[in-house]
Amino acid sequence: MSEVKRENWGSKLGLILAMAGNAIGLGNFWRYPYQAASNGGGAFMIPYFFALVFMGIPLMFVEWNLGKTGGKYGHGTLGPMVYLQAREKAKPRNAAVLGAIAGGFAFAVTVLVNSYYNHIIGWTLGYSVMSFTGGYMDPAVKTVDILSKYLANPANLGFWVVTLALLALAVNGGIKKGIEVVAKIMMPLIYVFGIVLIVKTLTLGSPVKPDWSPLAGLDFIWSPRWQDLNFKSAMAAAGQIFFTLSLGMGIIANYASYLKADDDIVLSGFTTVALNEFAEVILGGTIAIPIAFTFLGTEGLGAGVGLSFISLPNIFRIMGGGGLFGGLWFLLLFFAGFTSAIAMFNYLTALLEEEMGIQRKFGTWAIFGLYVLVGLPIALEATIGGKGLGGLNYFSAVDNWVGNVFLIVLGLIEVVVTGWLMGRKGLDEINHGSYWKLPKWFYVAFIQILTPVSILAFLVGFLWTTFTSGTYKVVDTWSLAGTIVSFAVVVIGAVQAYVNIKRKYGEELSSNTVKILK
Ligand code: PHE
Repeated sequence: MSEVKRENWGSKLGLILAMAGNAIGLGNFWRYPYQAASNGGGAFMIPYFFALVFMGIPLMFVEWNLGKTGGKYGHGTLGPMVYLQAREKAKPRNAAVLGAIAGGFAFAVTVLVNSYYNHIIGWTLGYSVMSFTGGYMDPAVKTVDILSKYLANPANLGFWVVTLALLALAVNGGIKKGIEVVAKIMMPLIYVFGIVLIVKTLTLGSPVKPDWSPLAGLDFIWSPRWQDLNFKSAMAAAGQIFFTLSLGMGIIANYASYLKADDDIVLSGFTTVALNEFAEVILGGTIAIPIAFTFLGTEGLGAGVGLSFISLPNIFRIMGGGGLFGGLWFLLLFFAGFTSAIAMFNYLTALLEEEMGIQRKFGTWAIFGLYVLVGLPIALEATIGGKGLGGLNYFSAVDNWVGNVFLIVLGLIEVVVTGWLMGRKGLDEINHGSYWKLPKWFYVAFIQILTPVSILAFLVGFLWTTFTSGTYKVVDTWSLAGTIVSFAVVVIGAVQAYVNIKRKYGEELSSNTVKILK
């Protein structure tokens, strides 16, 4: 099979905005506020910053580097990337097994997150239309019932399908003309809408009760409360770092595979983290939480997943210009989700293109079909099954496995492969072409020791808390199906990755020595 000519990023600005778009997603604006609120606010932020430093930042460098190496050899997917780095110290056959496992998890994440993530993006689109048209403004109807009715209405699946079609069109355009263009339009708008919403939030005053104010809401997240610190919130904080930075999914590495051989990693990777964290703790943290606190007090913070879709519409109903601000809020969520989903979409398109020889212009529509397929269970359970909000058991099962466990396992494999199997060469590769050089002590202390140890501890702690708290209990057929499907997709992905590695590097596997070097 002929080598596919790989694209590169058109400009530095385009690359940085696309990477920021990859990381900044629903995680920042929808997930972060309710995670922080339901895990003790200021108590959550302490482990959050630890996880950022010990796991998030080092893993970001690792993923950029995996991607850049992979791209040099024509790969945009994790299986061969891990193989190429692992074979530095491991024998090719062992490296291929590691590559297959990593490829399997990355495949599972990029396929299965889309069984729910794209639905939520669809809801944000539906809700922005509803905001502008007054769809949830009737004070006589509870917002939770409005959401449930929204979910149970088949017509609203249209927003989901439109989202998927727009994603396909964007990815069809390729890296420069598709992904970069979308990032250059949507990313600045996210910051502009975010700042408008912050100004509105901070000038809300105390319309309901004198001690319910935006500042009191901010105080809730920003006063470190060591006394409320507990194991469960620490686990949630670490999970949030993985999710929000798009780590352990293979998609940062995929974007980095379109770098040129001499491109910078350290400063660019760090900038990605900085832009994401600004969007998360500053923009994400200064909108939803203070608004909810101002109007509903602590009760408004307990809404969990429903913070964006249930609590906030209550408030948009009563605040001045609520339709407009609600519309901006949901559009912001839409843009954020879209520019992340595009990265997952491109990962799978690259897989078809590079590993199966299917051209991008057909591949994108194949992925469109795949995403409709994997999204069907939620559509069937919640919408066609008419259960609305009560119909999200498949969603929860898939999200528990994929969104928590698989990401962490994959992150652990990545950091061990770079830190230990690449060894010191990993440091040279990360620094090659970089404006800032990573010091050797950082590489040894973090990438080789502290980061893998923290991720391992986190994985063990996480499994322990979630199993003992019953999160993984199979509650009905839908949740059983979600669990089985999650693992089945890992296996399919691993077999696919192995076959692909064997096809490209079969000679190395049969002689068990490294031969192909670029
Ligand atoms: N970092 C993304 C977010 O915060 C995570 C993600 C990426 C999720 C791509 C789904 C798809 O939302």
